[in-house]
Amino acid sequence: MAGKYASVSGESRVLTGKVDRLLTRLLLAYKGGIFVELIIAANWKMHKTAAETAGFCRALRQFEAGFKGVEVLICPPFTALPAAEAALAGSEIKLGAQNMHWETRGAQTGEIAASMLLEFGVEYVIIGHSERRHLMGEDNTQIQRKIGTALQNGLKPILCVGETETEREQGVTEKVIKKQLSEALDGQDSQKLGSLVLAYEPVWAIGTGKAASAEDADRAAALIRNFLEDKLGSKTAGELRIQYGGSVKADNIGFFVGLPSVQGALVGGASLEVDSFSALVQAARKAVIS
Ligand code: PGA
Repeated sequence: MAGKYASVSGESRVLTGKVDRLLTRLLLAYKGGIFVELIIAANWKMHKTAAETAGFCRALRQFEAGFKGVEVLICPPFTALPAAEAALAGSEIKLGAQNMHWETRGAQTGEIAASMLLEFGVEYVIIGHSERRHLMGEDNTQIQRKIGTALQNGLKPILCVGETETEREQGVTEKVIKKQLSEALDGQDSQKLGSLVLAYEPVWAIGTGKAASAEDADRAAALIRNFLEDKLGSKTAGELRIQYGGSVKADNIGFFVGLPSVQGALVGGASLEVDSFSALVQAARKAVIS
């Protein structure tokens, strides 16, 4: 009906919008007996300049109405964070970083500190991505320190875990994931761990076009969930989200977010184009509603 809301004050319209968003979130997120919001993160790795990032973010905003109830974040290269922040101003799309050092300042040539990320509106930080573990030699001790610094500085860590192809063939997947989790979370302030996001990313599935089967992803995510419950208790663990990552696309995201233990995805290749990424987010939303 034309003009139906014409007499509603600006304030009421804002309130109506907020209530609407809240209801959609609750509706979308009711999975496994608890309310959690799906989280889909675009990990751009070493792709896109600041100018390309600004163009992408502006174009992505055209699709934002179709993302309701899904927390969407972009993790561009560090140099593109200011451009992304400016292009996303006033949007619900959030910003993440791909890495961070555990020291807060000092003689660490080429590294970046939490305060430098916070300056550009970064809310999440990916920690322990397999490319950092395997290409840059990052170990669980460094990852544990990074998680601690992120939590202390109010950044929400996305902790990546996952086995290599060889480890999978050797049948040690569970052992590897448990070790990555226990060493990374050892000694962390449990009061702050409520903001943690876990990403199960089997290394053999990253960038290969060979996504894990639903059974494999479910088994690993359930293992992570059980580990977290033992460590943090079922209330805190129940609120944490576990993403699946590794060759996620619009046509397979539905399998993953439909799994009881999975509440989102960490996306590389398919997040680099506005069309493929927006289609993926919308497919995830649709899979959870229906
Ligand atoms: P991919 O990368 O989606 O290209 O497999 C995922 C990741 O590395 O986080």
